[in-house]
Amino acid sequence: MQAEYRERRQQLMSKLGNGTAIFRSAPMAVMHNDVEYTYRQDSDFFYLTGFNEPQAVAVLAPHHPEHQFILFVQPKEREKEVWTGYRCGVDAAKEIYGADEAYPITDLDEKLPQYLEKADRLYYHLGRDRTFNDKILGHYQHLLRTYPKRGTGPIAIEDTGPILHSMRLVKSPSELDLMRQAAAIATEAHNYALEVTAPGRYEYEIQAEIEHIFRLRGAMGPAYPSIVASGANACVLHYIENTRQMQQQDLLLIDAGCAYGYYNSDITRTFPVGGKFTPEQKTLYEIVLEAQKQAIAQVQPGNPFNLAHDTAVRILTEGLVEVGILKGEIDKLIEEEKYKPFYMHRTSHWLGLDVHDVGVYQHGDNPQLLQPGQVLTIEPGLYIVPDTKPAEDQPEIDPRWVGIGIRIEDDVLVTSTGHEVLTAGVPKAVDEVER
Ligand code: GLY
Ligand code: MN
Ligand code: MN
Repeated sequence: MQAEYRERRQQLMSKLGNGTAIFRSAPMAVMHNDVEYTYRQDSDFFYLTGFNEPQAVAVLAPHHPEHQFILFVQPKEREKEVWTGYRCGVDAAKEIYGADEAYPITDLDEKLPQYLEKADRLYYHLGRDRTFNDKILGHYQHLLRTYPKRGTGPIAIEDTGPILHSMRLVKSPSELDLMRQAAAIATEAHNYALEVTAPGRYEYEIQAEIEHIFRLRGAMGPAYPSIVASGANACVLHYIENTRQMQQQDLLLIDAGCAYGYYNSDITRTFPVGGKFTPEQKTLYEIVLEAQKQAIAQVQPGNPFNLAHDTAVRILTEGLVEVGILKGEIDKLIEEEKYKPFYMHRTSHWLGLDVHDVGVYQHGDNPQLLQPGQVLTIEPGLYIVPDTKPAEDQPEIDPRWVGIGIRIEDDVLVTSTGHEVLTAGVPKAVDEVER
């Protein structure tokens, strides 16, 4: 794997010209008082180094005569490591992670300037930590002030995102192996949830069953807080309380995925708690399922990213008209976004090291065209949210639809000939989710 990290750094450096890029590790996040959340490395940092400790800075200086890849890390400190865990330390940063030079993080201010002085620009993403931004900006300003003395130094700051994130957008075979594993574990968990859901059980019990499998199979844990939403809770897109006792007539919407080797899966299924759909539930479910299938069919190399969403919106709008929740001419309803009270989110996002992964969706007036190696979700839904006021020219909503929330989400890889649904092992046909 180290060879691949090196290749990524080289690929990035080949696009930096005479620039120097600085990357910072993710900060520790406090859970409460002196307890911290499990550490999770920043995705850009991890993508380029595989290094998973906090308090680190990576520098790429392609123009430097000796050191192109420099790591600043926490030094080994026996007393601290006894409390907070093993640290790789300065020597191993070179031996294991392939840095040309490594320093303790406390030397950052002293050592950084030598990697910036000959650069013509600084690549840096202004992050949330203002103090660290100020530190980097301080170096930049100092080098600008002293520019006349040298006649060299960075005279612009450029975000690392556009270059790096276009690399991250297309997954390598080894990244896809991890994504397939993340998908397989979440697939097993969803299948198990379908088996053990029953009236009388609580949403959190199903959450526990799912997350048990995540960890049991070696996943780092959930990719995001698992959503286990029964009945009208399914109309709250990010419902994560998961406290309700499920009833015979409920639908259960489960949106849960795991992180495996830092890569994420993201699956949603909706099925009847008591085993059989009511006629209304089934009608809306079939509309969403059709929208999802047709949207997946649009995942083809060369197709615009937005085509899957546009396809889903059309089928959902047609369905809403057919059942009488909307009325009017389809094109006009779509143009005026009359479907939005019932379908308020997008159909897709990129998936990878981040659940909502990096990469652009649109290039100004030009669409992002799908390419082999990209992974995206397809996740249409319908939500008849209680107390929705219909638009002026729209009918009252018949109470029999109210409180139904449905989403179906799969993870789809663009291949050279079409697509591959990485999460195809979770049932979604009506007769498969009915028991
Ligand atoms: N679970 C987050 C999403 O589906 O985008
Ligand atoms: Mn999801
Ligand atoms: Mn998603």
